[in-house]
Amino acid sequence: MAFPLSYYILPTFLLLFIIRKVRESKWGKCKNNVQLDGKTAIVTGANSGIGFEIARELAQRKAHVIVACRTLEKAREACLQIHAKLKSDQAVLIPMEVNLASLKSIKNFAEEVNKNHEEINILVNNAGVSFPNSQRMLTEDKFEIHFGVNYLAHFYLTSLLLKLLSIAPSRVIVVASSLHERGEINLSDLNHLHSTKKTNLYANSKLANVYFAQELARRIESNHVRVYACCPGWVYTGLFRHSLKWYHYILIAPVAFFFMRSAKQGAQTPIYCATESSIENETGLLYRDCKPYNSKAIFYDNVGIKLWEQSQQMINDATKEL
Ligand SMILES: NC(=O)c1ccc[n+]([C@@H]2O[C@H](COP(=O)([O-])OP(=O)(O)OC[C@H]3O[C@@H](n4cnc5c(N)ncnc54)[C@H](OP(=O)(O)O)[C@@H]3O)[C@@H](O)[C@H]2O)c1
Ligand SMILES: *[C@@H]1O[C@H](CO)[C@@H](O)[C@H](O)[C@H]1NC(C)=O
Ligand SMILES: *[C@@H]1O[C@H](CO)[C@@H](O)[C@H](O)[C@H]1NC(C)=O
Repeated sequence: MAFPLSYYILPTFLLLFIIRKVRESKWGKCKNNVQLDGKTAIVTGANSGIGFEIARELAQRKAHVIVACRTLEKAREACLQIHAKLKSDQAVLIPMEVNLASLKSIKNFAEEVNKNHEEINILVNNAGVSFPNSQRMLTEDKFEIHFGVNYLAHFYLTSLLLKLLSIAPSRVIVVASSLHERGEINLSDLNHLHSTKKTNLYANSKLANVYFAQELARRIESNHVRVYACCPGWVYTGLFRHSLKWYHYILIAPVAFFFMRSAKQGAQTPIYCATESSIENETGLLYRDCKPYNSKAIFYDNVGIKLWEQSQQMINDATKEL
């Protein structure tokens, strides 16, 4: 009686396996072997998911990697884990604390980096959060949490590191998401104090990320700095842990199997943006699957400019007392 079972089950698994492999082949892989000896990189949110895999790969390629995490403890733990996975024990991993929900913490972090390093060659603005809209969480400085952590924190962090980024050829990687296509920027309510429940706060922050990358590329004076926005794809990480219940995970399992990338697969496009030499003269563009991505969103120059100016103003106001 076992015969019919194996007759169907084996081919079924084989078929599923093949479907998965075909999908994977479309996700793109960073194929270059560019080494990063003597370069210094920073990865935010490097203790988990995509950020962890980016930090590991940059260290594998011999960059000195500042593993920037919400607490020093998490950063140290991440460094240990990365060390354990590397083939060589010569990697230089520097654990540092940066709580992106606090402008004060970002300022302290940047001061320390500016003090201890001569130049920065790669900055990966990766950390991000996703909460249910209804929770209405705020950062320490009273910014809506998606706007504050995913966008404004990285805006501030990047501006504080611009001098070090301008010393030698460098790349700023902005980890956005294709969900930016569902986002909107309300210039009279950037911090979402009045927005309705329906607004997708996460998507809005990711749209702001893409605008930031475009505007940064346009404004930067140093010819050394290149800016790359990217979408890692749909990745199986802890990002949605605040929005998902246990039974969601069971429902998601089959979807995850077919459509979701591992963290390592999700890290490919950010790593590509950080290392690929054929795109060394490109800046301000968006990438996905290790190639340029045509966004369905419509971008308006004046929105990018006003978003930048208002963000700068918000930071100036909030950091006056720091
Ligand atoms: N997963 C996807 O499908 C997907 C799709 C498109 C884009 N992305 C983007 O990819 C990036 C990485 O996400 P992931 O999927 O790898 O999720 P993840 O595993 O949840 O990683 C997010 C990282 O951000 C850190 N972080 C959050 N709030 C922070 C804060 N206030 N200060 C410092 N660090 C903070 C987290 O630290 P803790 O561990 O301390 O919370 C964690 O290390 C995000 O920008 C996300 O928007 C993900
Ligand atoms: C933008 O925000 C203002 C509140 O300042 C609100 O009146 C308006 O309806 C919002 N616009 C959109 C398109 O949500
Ligand atoms: C980038 O520009 C420099 C200077 O113009 C040039 O030497 C180099 O070949 C260019 N790289 C690529 C990949 O086009």
